[in-house]
Amino acid sequence: MASRFLAGLFAPVTEEVTAFDLPVTGRIPPELNGRYLRNGPNAMGLEDPDSYHWFLGKGMVHGIRLRDGRAEWYRNRWIRSESVANTLGEKWSGGPVFADMDWAPNNNVIEHAGRTITLAEGGARPYEMSYDLGTLGPCDFGGLPGGYTAHPKRDPRTGELHAVSYFHGWNHVQHIVLDRGGHIARTVNVPVSDGPMMHDFALTERYVVIYDLSITFSADLAVNGARLPYAWNDAHPSRIGLLPRDGGADEVRWFDVEPCWVFHTLNAYDDAAGRVVVEVARYPWMLDQGRLDEIPPTVLDRWTIDPAAGTLRQDVIDDRSQEYPRVDERVVSLPHRYSYTVVGEDIFGAKVGEVMLKRDARTETTETRLFPRGSGVGEAVFVPTRADSAEDDGYLMTIVFDPERGAADLLLLSARDFTGPPVAAVHLPAKVPLGFHGSWIPDPEDHR
Ligand SMILES: [Fe+2]
Repeated sequence: MASRFLAGLFAPVTEEVTAFDLPVTGRIPPELNGRYLRNGPNAMGLEDPDSYHWFLGKGMVHGIRLRDGRAEWYRNRWIRSESVANTLGEKWSGGPVFADMDWAPNNNVIEHAGRTITLAEGGARPYEMSYDLGTLGPCDFGGLPGGYTAHPKRDPRTGELHAVSYFHGWNHVQHIVLDRGGHIARTVNVPVSDGPMMHDFALTERYVVIYDLSITFSADLAVNGARLPYAWNDAHPSRIGLLPRDGGADEVRWFDVEPCWVFHTLNAYDDAAGRVVVEVARYPWMLDQGRLDEIPPTVLDRWTIDPAAGTLRQDVIDDRSQEYPRVDERVVSLPHRYSYTVVGEDIFGAKVGEVMLKRDARTETTETRLFPRGSGVGEAVFVPTRADSAEDDGYLMTIVFDPERGAADLLLLSARDFTGPPVAAVHLPAKVPLGFHGSWIPDPEDHR
């Protein structure tokens, strides 16, 4: 039977589209000049339809450029890894790959130091794209020894980009700091055992928070040809490491946590009492025997780590299964008030994407926004109205499917009037399959 990841909201698109002057319902705020980019897997028709899994599709970036109140263009482009370029009959750019890992990053897309960077993990190198989503080639930031990460964190005060990178052939994971100019400012190798998978980490003003959880590399799966050779490992306890931002590997302190898996950090920060607060969407397990077809619900957890007392306390702050957590990028690593998630009983299954939550950490309340059936709403990216506007004074950008048109919309919602009508809906000319993560990338001043 063909994989469910080739059908419905997951179904890949077969064409790369370029469209200009897109129809809009509502009003695009004229101060929004830039691109909303979102990455996700898009099978090319070569994969075995029975065993295909969403996580393994070739990365395709969907982009919408907004300018002076108009939706100037939409483009969707596969990232030209060597195999993607070959499939499309194009010449591959060449460039620095690692460990023979030919991989079109499908997880995330960000801007750093004026470069548009698509991201994956596990040793795969990022790929750089041009402004209009042409592939420039793989990228090692001038000499990274391995791969990078799907979820770097920008320190909003310094502009530095932090990452934790892993690779099954290493006996360590690597903390990487890129400076504002995009150059490697620091790498620290932190020893680990068993080759743990690390999709995300957390950053505070003082610490890099490392998730050494209970999914590790499986040589058996690799020998059997598994494309994702990682599995739940009861023999590998879950623990959380605090690496001081400027410290060496010998300064990491580890704290036990209930065995679990985390794809995504909501945010983390140092509190006034000197504790480290980490909020995550936590799974009780994942990848049982390497299988990706069963995925349990999450809970929203808050971990309070007291370095002085040597303790970690776990609290469930919301037991509704939710994913794609985001906060205002200006409060990453700092105390946040507002956060945004998408609810789904089976977040990577059919029941994804009809409910979005806005959580207020100060009042411990949530607002609920419902979307029409079949919307498949994904991650919301917060964009402030102005650089100095208040934490929820801005817009949420997200892609939804419109079943009536049979195509996708880019929605701009008011973060403050969370349940109110959309500020604008940009009507795209095609479907956008369910995907992962993205960014709003304001245009540089000289590009307007
Ligand atoms: Fe992710």
